Amino acid sequence: MTRETIARGMDRKLAVQSLFDELSPGYDSTGIDFFGVIARTLVEYARLREGSTVVDIGCGAGAALIPAARAVGARGAAVGIDVAAGMVERAQRAVEELGLENVEVRVGDAEAPAVEPGSVDAIVGSLVVFFLPDIEAALEAYARALVVGGTLAFSTFAGDDDWTPLDETVTRFTPSPPAAEEEAWFESRDEIRAMLEAHHFHEVAIEEVRHEVSFPNAPAFHEWSWWTGWRSTWLAVPAEQRDEARAAADEYLRSLAEPDGSIRLATAVRYTRTRTN
Ligand SMILES: C[S@@+](CC[C@H](N)C(=O)[O-])C[C@H]1O[C@@H](n2cnc3c(N)ncnc32)[C@H](O)[C@@H]1O
Repeated sequence: MTRETIARGMDRKLAVQSLFDELSPGYDSTGIDFFGVIARTLVEYARLREGSTVVDIGCGAGAALIPAARAVGARGAAVGIDVAAGMVERAQRAVEELGLENVEVRVGDAEAPAVEPGSVDAIVGSLVVFFLPDIEAALEAYARALVVGGTLAFSTFAGDDDWTPLDETVTRFTPSPPAAEEEAWFESRDEIRAMLEAHHFHEVAIEEVRHEVSFPNAPAFHEWSWWTGWRSTWLAVPAEQRDEARAAADEYLRSLAEPDGSIRLATAVRYTRTRTN
């Protein structure tokens, strides 16, 4: 890795941290079951065992951390790590409100979780790994953290769903559309498998699920999206064109509307589960 690549990675990490810190007050709290359904499906897919230790990388407000803590039970332990302090506070609050005593939440880097080598039975990450600038370093760290035969399970977007045209509709208004990711290792099953197998993992299982996420109407979509990573898509549109971009998005959303006006967005999610050698 060159010095420039490392510097670019650090810049990306800082940008992600500050974005999610800004989003943390309203993230996943507008009553739309988007992150929750994906996180619960991931936790089920991870096949966590009662009494085991699980680390949730990029835990956000706790969408996967909480079901993971319940799955491992009082004899087990769940640790949530997030780079954004605001998200850690949200997750901590949720854990306290639910009275879960087997959970610890801390600020940390998902690329290098600070845990004892060989001390973790499973690592889960819902909609996180594509934010990591150095996935190879992250996989090396996960292999060190996990017990032999430990599980790594994560969710990523699979594309080819209602989000692609929506994204294209809005990014048409961006002066220079965001540059393509350099390392799109998560964009196909084969690439994911190859990446994992090159870094101490085997028995790779991958499944794709189409979740229908329902918004009561277009304004509800806009409110929700403003409190997700989508905020950066809206902010990339020059201020004077944002109304036009929103109108174009509304037109697309209307094309998906049900007779009662609700909008169902098909979201294709890829679930990956693998084990250390
Ligand atoms: C799309 S959110 C998903 C949050 C949560 N897993 C969920 O399903 O709702 C991505 C999360 O990953 C976190 N994140 C991104 N890069 C990270 C890194 N390098 N280390 C730790 N957390 C990171 C962000 O702060 C954010 O909370």
